[in-house]
Amino acid sequence: MVQVAILGFGTVGSGVAEVLTKNREILARKAGQEISLKYILDTREFPGNPFEEKLTHNFEDILHDPEVKVVAECIGGATIALEFVKKLLAAGKHVATSNKEMVATHGHELLELAKAHNVNFLFEASVGGGIPVLRPLAFDLAGNEITEVAGILNGTTNYILTEMLEKDAAFDAALKEAQAMGYAERNPAADVEGLDACRKVCILSALAFGTHVYPDQVSTEGITSISAEDVEAAASAHMKVKLLGRTLRTPAGKVCSFVAPHFVPVTSQLYHVDSVFNGIVVRGNAIGEAMFYGPGAGKLPTASAVVGDMIDAVWHLKERRNLDWQEADPTAMADFADLALPYVVRTTASLAEVEAALGEATALAAGGYLLKNPVSRRAIEESGLTLLAVRPVFQ
Ligand code: HSE
Repeated sequence: MVQVAILGFGTVGSGVAEVLTKNREILARKAGQEISLKYILDTREFPGNPFEEKLTHNFEDILHDPEVKVVAECIGGATIALEFVKKLLAAGKHVATSNKEMVATHGHELLELAKAHNVNFLFEASVGGGIPVLRPLAFDLAGNEITEVAGILNGTTNYILTEMLEKDAAFDAALKEAQAMGYAERNPAADVEGLDACRKVCILSALAFGTHVYPDQVSTEGITSISAEDVEAAASAHMKVKLLGRTLRTPAGKVCSFVAPHFVPVTSQLYHVDSVFNGIVVRGNAIGEAMFYGPGAGKLPTASAVVGDMIDAVWHLKERRNLDWQEADPTAMADFADLALPYVVRTTASLAEVEAALGEATALAAGGYLLKNPVSRRAIEESGLTLLAVRPVFQ
């Protein structure tokens, strides 16, 4: 039997406790031994909760208990959670986490620490909620040279955009629903301003290209500037507005990582990813294109990924999974503003004026111009046109 603990009894932590309990027998078979939940750390009381007797307010109980081998970190953020995780890894305990902020800002450092102490630091739940994508990217697709990873990485914003398109819902009402369903971050600005997707791009980029990318190296635009005109212009061209996080290798061999609302054509698999679902496209020189799809947020889907990591850690208590990446290299990063992409621009200018400034274009039925040739965002912004919206098109 192996004893485990959970840090944080919020949405994800309580989901992990539930999955560990309701699937106890299945997990014992899959992990090769019984997984027994010994502690749950939280500052709050939970009177009458079935897990009440597991509750501790003292992190040291877990840190200094030699029976506890694997810990699920579900507190979130990169302050107290980071301090706890560092101590756990240094004490030789394996950690599984759903904490994208911590991995995006300290992933390299934590993987080095895990390596030094021969323990696992696993974080499948940090990207795509319940969708298995990081392990496939790190292990199953290791035979590829990855050229791009692009995805709908935030369930809350995808839910809002879907409600706006399909039900003409108001932005604020859709956001409130996403919050009520437990999808949104504690501060939903992290969702709607793109920061949550940005953190996930950092993690995907590190696994795809082997070098840490910090959030401030990712050009990030959320969905607050999306208007009904954008949604209509996209629909008139058989496209949908989707918030995409992308990291790709440029023709010059640099890595460019960005989050921006895109126009996604009906021919793309991502067009069909709606509501709280996430979809992540991986392009590689052997696989071609693969897409990972599923529930990108929510209590039990996220818990599913955390518990999967805990089982993996139980299998690798002695010999850690070989997972790491290099420290960030700012010289290897390209500026998003210089990346040539297909674009739609909405502007007060005429087709002739757009073509004179940016080359051949097609007028969309509900407004906006689809530029025929890829151009950089910098070129569009320096074109002198009065711009209402500038949206890359995903191809
Ligand atoms: N707030 C996040 C989302 C939770 O909406 O996708 C999952 O990371």
